[in-house]
Amino acid sequence: MTVLEHKAPAPPDQIMLVQSAPRAYQILKAAMELGVFETMEKAPKSSNSIAKDLKLDKRGTECLLNALVGLNFIARKDKMFELIEVSRTYLLQSSDLYMGLYLKHAEQLDKGWSQLGDAVRSGKPVQEVNTQKTAEEFFPALAEGIFPMSYAIAQMVARDLSDVNHGKARILDVAAGSGVWSIPFAEANKSATVDALDFPAVLEVTKKITAKRGLADRYNFLSGDWRHIKWKPSEYNIIVLGHILHSEGKEESKKLLKQCAESLQPDGVVVVAEFLCDEQRSGPAAALIFELNMFLHTTEGCVFAVDELKNMLHEAGFKHVDYSANIADQPVLIGSK
Ligand SMILES: C[S@@+](CC[C@H](N)C(=O)[O-])C[C@H]1O[C@@H](n2cnc3c(N)ncnc32)[C@H](O)[C@@H]1O
Repeated sequence: MTVLEHKAPAPPDQIMLVQSAPRAYQILKAAMELGVFETMEKAPKSSNSIAKDLKLDKRGTECLLNALVGLNFIARKDKMFELIEVSRTYLLQSSDLYMGLYLKHAEQLDKGWSQLGDAVRSGKPVQEVNTQKTAEEFFPALAEGIFPMSYAIAQMVARDLSDVNHGKARILDVAAGSGVWSIPFAEANKSATVDALDFPAVLEVTKKITAKRGLADRYNFLSGDWRHIKWKPSEYNIIVLGHILHSEGKEESKKLLKQCAESLQPDGVVVVAEFLCDEQRSGPAAALIFELNMFLHTTEGCVFAVDELKNMLHEAGFKHVDYSANIADQPVLIGSK
């Protein structure tokens, strides 16, 4: 007896959606490789003129453009195709938030993802990225690649915290990577100075990006593992923890939060940016997928639930926890004493 004899089953929408996701990525990748977005940089274009500019097949070009419209990367008005904000900001090579580097790096990670079944069987990461040696191989490219992912959100946080980020504000960016979480603070307050802490190879990226943005003279670099660097007590107005707790795991994160509480001035704040899930650990899907990424690449890494992280902040000495830049149920947490 089959299921069909009992009742009409619901259509397999979710399976079809997930199965077609890699195709959506191939569409984006092909469009980027062919330079399709660049052809529309100055003005909307017809499909035929894009095909002519790039010496492409007319039918293939039309299908590709239609799919890009369906995926909300571009728009069509009458018979003309045009960029929209997301493609103009993140998909043009001329943009300083171009995401090409990020996508290349994500492809490297996907090789590890293809071994997910084996990893779940064995319990062993496919590649451990948070020892100093592996971090220095892995993070310079990743840190630069993910700059565009966080910059807009970090700007919102800097706007929300303008009352703390004033005068000669002292800022510590822990596990700074590109510096993306502190750069908007430094850009908003020309008197602020930042200590950026990370491993030496990654700090070369921080130096390059802060210099490019005209901030080099206000950045100081603390090189090494956060556990081995001497933190000055009551020094900072703002300490930023941008996407570091998830690779540390719960116990080390508690120590790091405590360290932050000690190094902040009495009216200072800690800013914690993370991929967060709900209490039941049932969503958002992106956060739960990211937790598997941590399983594949670390031994202790995890994704925290919003309230779990809030309680950890309380335990570390932060009496108050506020939320900033709450996008898609992923708020940035702001702890104050
Ligand atoms: C996911 S990246 C985040 C970078 C940046 N904060 C951001 O959000 O784009 C994690 C960063 O943590 C750094 N990191 C990892 N373990 C560290 C440790 N024990 N001490 C200092 N930095 C560390 C890595 O080198 C890497 O730059």
